[in-house]
Amino acid sequence: MRQFLSVQDVSDPIQFAHQSLELKARPFDFKHLGKNKCLGLVFLNPSLRTRMSTQRAAQNLGLEVMILNIDQEGWALEIHDGVKMNGTKVEHIREAAAIMGQYCDILGVRSFAELQSIEEDYKQEILQGLIQFSGVPVISLESALFHPLQSLADLMTILEQKKSSPKITLLWAPHIKALPQAVPNSFAEWMLKSQFDLTIGAPEGMNLDPEFTKGARWVHSKEEAIENADFIYVKNWSSYSPYGQIGKDLDKWMLRLEDLKGINPEVKIMHCLPVRRNLELDGAILDSSYSLVVNQARNRIFSAQMVLKTILENLD
Ligand code: CP
Repeated sequence: MRQFLSVQDVSDPIQFAHQSLELKARPFDFKHLGKNKCLGLVFLNPSLRTRMSTQRAAQNLGLEVMILNIDQEGWALEIHDGVKMNGTKVEHIREAAAIMGQYCDILGVRSFAELQSIEEDYKQEILQGLIQFSGVPVISLESALFHPLQSLADLMTILEQKKSSPKITLLWAPHIKALPQAVPNSFAEWMLKSQFDLTIGAPEGMNLDPEFTKGARWVHSKEEAIENADFIYVKNWSSYSPYGQIGKDLDKWMLRLEDLKGINPEVKIMHCLPVRRNLELDGAILDSSYSLVVNQARNRIFSAQMVLKTILENLD
């Protein structure tokens, strides 16, 4: 493994998730792998879980970590070629990435979709610039399109529940602002490549890119979406087409504790976090034994550790 950008970088997601769970059981066995090596984490957007879990994963492997909140602490980056840099941008991605590759053996980058232009977001220029110009392996800490460290942790969390042939529902949730599609795109891809039964429940118009959801069953009723589920993954997203639109008057789509009465009593509720209580998801569910959100967040350490371990074992 030389990069970790999406499920395409893993041949067998279930096997990789099982290996991640084995690593969780003996997290300090590979502390020698990171000796005298450094991981650079570059953030253009806020983070709690990704920042802390990836640092902890690196520590477990003996790696040093450098963090750059490049949007706040770095020089403003130019990502386009051929421009005369006479505006506010003072550093080009070509030099910035090449220098980071001199300081670090592996780089991770978080760069969200801006939801202004699908063409610009789908180019993922900062991520691609780091890959092209740094000369070192790059992992996604959430890109415009995918959040694979989260999806691997989600798959681990599902496997830990030891449910054979799980029925999964990805359920749209209300929000006050337009959010990117990276988490649902990625979750759908990982579930489908794992050959799990995936239903996506969302209001009409709250669609996702069919390239990432092909094989899922779409329904437009919350009740129908959850009725047979073993796992309900709650998440807001803005629409794919037209791009970046937010739904209106859709508060009834919030999953409430009373919605769980009469369905599978063993059902488990997931969310990648952060979650806005009582807007996206009923706080009573988060406080109940239905919720797996803390398990998911804990597994972020070991999804990152498995990816870093695999890359370290294949470094030149
Ligand atoms: N789920 C997740 O990626 O959390 P952060 O945005 O806090 O890193």
